[in-house]
Amino acid sequence: MSSEEEKTQRVEIESQSEKLLSQGTQVVPRKPILVKKNQENESTPHLRLRAAMSRATIELVRTPGFEDSASTGVIYVMSRATMLGWGYKNREWCNFGQGAPEVGQIPNSVPRPTSASWNPQGNEYASVAGTKKLRQAVADLYNVRYRVGLKSQYTYENVCITPGGRASLTRLASTFGQVYLGHFLPDYSAYEEMLSVFKKFVPIPEMLDPLLDYKERIANLHREIVAKGLSLVLLSNPSNPTGNVIEETELDEWVQLARDTHTCFIMDEFYSNYIYSHPVEQNGRTVSAASYVHDVNSDPIVIVNGLTKNWRLPGWRITWTIGPKDVIRNVANAGSFLDGGANHPFQEAAIPLLDPKFVHEDTKCLQDHFRKKRDYVASELINMGIDIPKISKGTFYLWADVRNLPPPLNMGLGFFEEALKFKVVVVPGIFFDVNPAKRRNLFHSPYHHNVRISYGPPMEELALGLKNLREMIHKYTKK
Ligand SMILES: Cc1ncc(COP(=O)(O)O)c(C=O)c1O
Repeated sequence: MSSEEEKTQRVEIESQSEKLLSQGTQVVPRKPILVKKNQENESTPHLRLRAAMSRATIELVRTPGFEDSASTGVIYVMSRATMLGWGYKNREWCNFGQGAPEVGQIPNSVPRPTSASWNPQGNEYASVAGTKKLRQAVADLYNVRYRVGLKSQYTYENVCITPGGRASLTRLASTFGQVYLGHFLPDYSAYEEMLSVFKKFVPIPEMLDPLLDYKERIANLHREIVAKGLSLVLLSNPSNPTGNVIEETELDEWVQLARDTHTCFIMDEFYSNYIYSHPVEQNGRTVSAASYVHDVNSDPIVIVNGLTKNWRLPGWRITWTIGPKDVIRNVANAGSFLDGGANHPFQEAAIPLLDPKFVHEDTKCLQDHFRKKRDYVASELINMGIDIPKISKGTFYLWADVRNLPPPLNMGLGFFEEALKFKVVVVPGIFFDVNPAKRRNLFHSPYHHNVRISYGPPMEELALGLKNLREMIHKYTKK
């Protein structure tokens, strides 16, 4: 198929899809996957990735009793970059790959903490559920931000402090029963490993349609839950990598659906402060399913969040799980054998950062700044000929489609390898194809043509990275 024919077909499918949507129909046209059989063997970036995946199983001396553990796609990305010279202090490089926000001062923000002190008690173990003071501070923050006027309020018993988001998620996963867990494609890459470590539950993926902007329709979700007998649903909201946000009436309907079907929704809200769907004047507004919970102890809604992204403090490893008391008790118990609890002194230091007034002001600065970065990066990428089908309304990621670029830039993995030569790190879309049971072949991934570009880094780094990407594209497009 020529690229012109492909474009025409895409436009036709898109307009057909819009028409169907406006009629409220559930029939969804699918775009054919543009993949030749065995193409993997002809692609150096794919062969390199395959080799890296199998090296662990071929080259290492195998110590009895161990299996190779999985590592996330982002680790592959960063180890390739490191091999080619990337380092945190190397200012020639631009990291649009790793999912970390800039941690320094941003315009108008309160200075970031640079030291912490604690009393000798901080040298003791903290409880595996976290200190009561911090747990209550989290509960208070959610009650002030999301539950004013509602009868049912969170208390410290609804909160468990954990040492990082992945610890929150693995603690949860270790407590799931023998059930079906629904999750979406694409979604946060670490879900893949997390969902495969604990063998009790069965992950059931649902592929979100790019032609529907990767948005799940509530009627469809209802059907999936009932037809497949899902007991749990896991999702990031805002979504990593697409930047979609489920909010307001729609989020209310999701919570209602969880209640009606007795399905527990695990809402990963690690980017809930990075919201740009409102006018600039409303900056400071955040989104959480907590707003729509009726009874904090009987509604099956579990939220994970923490200082990592929303407070721009990934190094602190202070995060939380908030939900019904029985779930929180189990999550705390899991901490007693999985990780032993979060760092004690930093739990003390986190308390002032949860003051609702501070959170509002800090989020306002964050949204002012990151919205500008998003608009800048998106417009530059579009000017270079990179397609951004939907500008993100949340997170600090752009989900780009590179199929219109010349080869090898038209595949996510090819784009990634070429960008490294220009000292820019991005993440190929295939790493968000959460595939815990390894049911799909790499080349059949629906995200073969995607890359995730992070605008987490500071402005100067973004400007340099964009300049380098422009040079890379120029190299392949100049006659
Ligand atoms: C959606 C989502 N949830 C959770 C996390 C994990 O956060 P942490 O670095 O605290 O483990 C991340 C980190 O990238 C994320 O993107």
